[in-house]
Amino acid sequence: MGTPQGVDARFFAEPILAIETSCDETATAIVHGRRVLASFVASQVEMHRKWGGVVPEAAARAHLEALLPLIAEALASCPQVSAVAVTNRPGLVGALSTGLTAAKALAWSRKLPLVGVHHLEGHLLSPFALDAPPPLPHLSLVVSGGHTELVLVRDLGDYALLAETLDDAAGEALDKGARLLGLGYPGGRAIQEAAASGDPRRYKLPRALRGEPAFSFAGLKTAMLRLVEKEGSSISVADAAASLQAAVVDSLSEKAVAAIEREGARALSLVGGVAANLALRERLARECARLGVELFVPPVELCTDNAAMIGIAGSFRLASGQRAAYDLDAFGAAELPRPPR
Ligand code: KG4
Ligand code: ZN
Repeated sequence: MGTPQGVDARFFAEPILAIETSCDETATAIVHGRRVLASFVASQVEMHRKWGGVVPEAAARAHLEALLPLIAEALASCPQVSAVAVTNRPGLVGALSTGLTAAKALAWSRKLPLVGVHHLEGHLLSPFALDAPPPLPHLSLVVSGGHTELVLVRDLGDYALLAETLDDAAGEALDKGARLLGLGYPGGRAIQEAAASGDPRRYKLPRALRGEPAFSFAGLKTAMLRLVEKEGSSISVADAAASLQAAVVDSLSEKAVAAIEREGARALSLVGGVAANLALRERLARECARLGVELFVPPVELCTDNAAMIGIAGSFRLASGQRAAYDLDAFGAAELPRPPR
């Protein structure tokens, strides 16, 4: 399939700087149109590891230290940017405010347009960095530490929520499972690595809400806790990790397949941090091949949090004429973004 007709014209024609500080990655990028020219990420993982999770106040302070050097690095790679895009929702408000303040200062001092970006729109539009981007409309499975959703991308900026989690996100279940198994934080990648030598059928774990257009992972977290309590030191970490990964992959792919069939979708994109998971990528590739549906998965560095995807979404918003005022606010929670007016 070729590049969808005219899609390039829907992105901003000049290079922009993008900033992302919504959670525990400080990131900057330079994006031109839908193309990523440079992307920089400073992870706070090492710092949060000792607490077993993200501590919001510590995250905000770490963004403060990491952000200016990363902005300097991005601007060194492309000194002449024409706009600034920044994540302003949803996320940890203290963390978001750090990026927002830097973005406003830079936009003001250089007299550049500013645009606020919804973090999920960043994930949703991340596959548009691919040489051959997904067609419009398409279906998207968004799986991260905070979100598990099936979204119909009717058009750029026009999203319909088809299914969401009733409780925890898929990434949260993996992170919690990893903590229980002593694999540390963040858990998704550690679970994937431990699972590589494990038996996914060894331990029975639940697949919640089978056949329903909604996700739930709270029961899986509790089942993992019970399993670890019951097995004690005799537990096989590899088998438990493989069983947990299989439960998450089964739930995600079964519901994605059901949505493809319900919607008659011809293309699926897989985005968000959990989309870095190899077992999930392989399973969805098989399912999509069987259904004759095209699968679009960004490279791993565009799946986990980054500013390149924020630049792509910002580039689309700027091309649509959207501009933010200097009183642009940060929001902890936010609905899916709406089409530009
Ligand atoms: O999108 P993301 O970086 O941040 C949020 O917006 O939440 O997603 C983070 C989530 C974490 O739960 C992390 O454990 C998970 O993505 N993750 C993975 C892998 N790499 C990151 N999960 C499974 N397998 C991976 N390889
Ligand atoms: Zn994210």
